[in-house]
Amino acid sequence: MSERETWATRAGFILAAVGSAVGLGNIWQFPFKTAQYGGATFLVVYLVAAFGIGLPAMLSEFVIGRKSNLNTISAFERLGYRQWRAAGIVGLLTGFWILSYYSVVGGWVLRYVGGSVTGAYFGDAGAYFGTISAGLPAVALHAVFMALVVGIVAFGIEDGIEKATKLMVPSILVILVALAVWAFTLPGSGPGYAYFLSPDLSQLRLTVGTTGSFPWVTFGGPLAEIIPFAVSQAFFSLSLGMGAMITYASYIDGDESLFGDSVTIVVFNSLIGILAGLVVIPLLFAQGAEPGAGGAGALFVSVASAFATIPFGRVVGFVFFLVVLVAALSSAISLLEVVVSYAVDNYAVSRPQVAAGLGAAIFVLGLPSAWDTAWLTWFDTLAYQLFLPLSVLGILVFTGWVFGRAAVDELLRGTGFGGGMGALWLWTVRTVVLLGVLLTLVLGLITLFGGPDPAIVPPL
Ligand code: PHE
Repeated sequence: MSERETWATRAGFILAAVGSAVGLGNIWQFPFKTAQYGGATFLVVYLVAAFGIGLPAMLSEFVIGRKSNLNTISAFERLGYRQWRAAGIVGLLTGFWILSYYSVVGGWVLRYVGGSVTGAYFGDAGAYFGTISAGLPAVALHAVFMALVVGIVAFGIEDGIEKATKLMVPSILVILVALAVWAFTLPGSGPGYAYFLSPDLSQLRLTVGTTGSFPWVTFGGPLAEIIPFAVSQAFFSLSLGMGAMITYASYIDGDESLFGDSVTIVVFNSLIGILAGLVVIPLLFAQGAEPGAGGAGALFVSVASAFATIPFGRVVGFVFFLVVLVAALSSAISLLEVVVSYAVDNYAVSRPQVAAGLGAAIFVLGLPSAWDTAWLTWFDTLAYQLFLPLSVLGILVFTGWVFGRAAVDELLRGTGFGGGMGALWLWTVRTVVLLGVLLTLVLGLITLFGGPDPAIVPPL
């Protein structure tokens, strides 16, 4: 086996991890899920989850990856816990599952880059979205997006991924800030800020009751329905529970503060989500749309139709969707990298071969989502309410209760922190963080099996 690649620099690793984290999760999903599931209340739960659960969970993945220097499945074996490869497999499957529909949405973005040049969506963005988001056009776009991802991954980590992500973060920040300022000037956008930023604390309620029969416990209050979406949104957005951060950390060669790296990543990622919210949500209000009604089309209908009304709309639209495309690509490559890395580490196969073969398999899995957005929603729901919390739970149980002290030693390497900080991390991973994810999983399963979920849009 050839020598394993590593990141050229520490900044290279951070950029790639930020590139993985920042993607459609921030720009497409976060605004529309926030609008759908309670506005500012969702934002509060999301932020608590990102810093309170996401950060410690990310550290867990980093520790597993850096200590083992192996892909997400073999990592557990090298650490001496062969049976725990199951946790790696769950993560790998979750990533596979998510990439299948992620690529479909990536295809829509690709189409909008072209549509901005020709002005195709300027007449009626809603109708345009309807035409390109399903059926054969969507299948074709899904194929093109997946081909791009395969192409980048085939070149290997340094040439492909490191270079592709370098430009993205600064450009995304600039364009989102500019759009947010512009949205602020629009008449009618005002109530959007209240909806997004001023939480109604009475909504932060979770009640627990018991019953005499299965499932013995019942949950009520707005949080019962917000938690599964908001916490899983944090996992999705931070690329957790899919082996991505384990895999990326496995290419780290040397001591660096994993703690510092992960804080940088979580802060950046949250910032970009909030900025996207500051663009999309005020726009929805300015256009008089019901905040929860936009659904998966919010970005592609509201933001796109807004471009039709501004000077140089085509140029702005083109740059905007191009940046979203780069963000989507840098995330998608990290998902494919998880599976490719496993194959390359374990079998005598070349990177391009595996990338192409797996890319084709993921393309096929994504066909239902490309054909009909109802399937896409179903894939997405299952990822949020089952796969993501289950997978993160596995990682936390492993690092907290199985790997334990050894995980702390690895975490402290390169930080300059004393053992106190490590002990605190271990304690939270074992208790509150773990319970938080368990609660998310239980509530997710209840929502999943408890019938259709009503979008929560409290009155303003
Ligand atoms: N975090 C990415 C996003 O927000 C999606 C992603 C998930 C990427 C998992 C890699 C792994 O778009």
